Amino acid sequence: MLERMLSARRAPLHSDEAEVEDDESKTRKHISFAMRASTYLTRLGYLLPCLLLGVVLSCIILISTWSRRLACAPSSDAASRFSFFGFDGPDSDFGSLGVPWCRSKHGKTVQWTSKDLLKGLEEFVPIYEKRPIKNNMYGMGFDHSFGLWFMAQWLKPDLMIESGAFKGHSTWVLRQAMPDTRIVSLSPRHPEKYLKKGPAYVDGNCTYFAGKDFVDFGSVDWRSVMKQHGITDLSRVLIFFDDHQNELKRIKQALKAGFQHLIFEDNYDTGTGDHYSLRQICDQFYIRGGGHSCFRDSDEARERAKRKKFWEKAVDTDELCGAGEEWWGVRGQMRDNFNHSNKDISYTEHFMNSRFVESVLDVYWELPPVAGPSLTHQSRYDPARVSSPIVEDGRFGLFQRLGLGRLEPFVFNGYTQMVYLQISEQES
Ligand SMILES: C[S@@+](CC[C@H](N)C(=O)[O-])C[C@H]1O[C@@H](n2cnc3c(N)ncnc32)[C@H](O)[C@@H]1O
Ligand SMILES: *[C@@H]1O[C@H](CO)[C@@H](O)[C@H](O)[C@H]1NC(C)=O
Ligand SMILES: *[C@@H]1O[C@H](CO)[C@@H](O)[C@H](O)[C@H]1NC(C)=O
Repeated sequence: MLERMLSARRAPLHSDEAEVEDDESKTRKHISFAMRASTYLTRLGYLLPCLLLGVVLSCIILISTWSRRLACAPSSDAASRFSFFGFDGPDSDFGSLGVPWCRSKHGKTVQWTSKDLLKGLEEFVPIYEKRPIKNNMYGMGFDHSFGLWFMAQWLKPDLMIESGAFKGHSTWVLRQAMPDTRIVSLSPRHPEKYLKKGPAYVDGNCTYFAGKDFVDFGSVDWRSVMKQHGITDLSRVLIFFDDHQNELKRIKQALKAGFQHLIFEDNYDTGTGDHYSLRQICDQFYIRGGGHSCFRDSDEARERAKRKKFWEKAVDTDELCGAGEEWWGVRGQMRDNFNHSNKDISYTEHFMNSRFVESVLDVYWELPPVAGPSLTHQSRYDPARVSSPIVEDGRFGLFQRLGLGRLEPFVFNGYTQMVYLQISEQES
């Protein structure tokens, strides 16, 4: 029922102008037909044409109230966001902004398709429902749990390394994807500590560098850890970062150790977040959706001001730009370590950082949100700044069929553009 409503709305709301035009032409057709009919029918007397005209007039009234109803904002928050922006969202109505991304060396991409993602979703929902940590506040929600699980089971690594475990939810997700594969987990506080207070997950086949044994990813002697775990081919190792550290720093550390497959949980958009992220690093004028204007009277400023009212994480130009109009990173800062350590960088430094990352990037792939906001009711990220969801708005039947409707809405609120990278040293 709702699906029918949504798909019925989808077409007319696609473009307000088209809708108006369409209705006018319909009306015109009715009138000319009525006129022709009435001319013909005058010969037969006045009663019939009057009746016909009456029918046509009620048609016109019906059509116009119907279209007004469609154009009116429905009561719920999410719905009003849609009637305001239309369903087509991302590409068409974000003007100069659009969806940003990172350029890779040769334009290589991933092997999996949206069909594979859909199949994956169907398999993952029942797994997710059995998760030990039901309310993972400050940790991963559904979208990223799915992304991590999907990529781990697709890539089938010989070893999985995670940095930033919290209560162990992501360790559990990795374990669901690969039941027999060793995990190495780095986290200042051991997940077992959380067991005293409530649900947590400690894995039986995981080497923990945690608690008193904690070592930061950049300080681990990876050569000896690989030897201990019988790993000779570093291209068979998958690293998952959810430690809120500067991602440029992490990429350099991973390259130095020889790792190639990285997933970053938090890939914040420019102007947001607590650490320098891939999206921020790549943000340049030559990338679609990249490079920003701090001019208060620009199209971008107007678009931002408008969208900020609807999406919690959207930032307006005042929030985006520092005092000297620094838009890159977060107001010209390269943030690190949960925003505890920040460094002002010049545009030149930022630009050099982006060129460096491009020079080592073989693949850049952002996990799409699992479903459109009219289905998940998320209100945090702006759909115009993310790729098209796996289950698109309007596909309520599919959303239900996949079991996504059974999940509590808050699990859809944590999407921050999780990204998968393949990296390698620059070829000389
Ligand atoms: C957002 S939480 C991780 C959530 C987790 N992956 C999950 O499944 O929900 C960030 C974690 O990073 C840890 N952390 C802080 N500094 C770190 C560092 N330098 N290396 C690794 N982990 C770190 C924090 O203690 C915290 O447990
Ligand atoms: C560790 O992995 C091995 C091999 O897959 C398995 O036999 C064993 O049961 C696992 N141990 C735990 C505690 O999960
Ligand atoms: C991040 O740190 C800066 C100081 O460098 C501070 O001005 C800012 O308010 C902090 N932001 C958040 C969200 O904590």
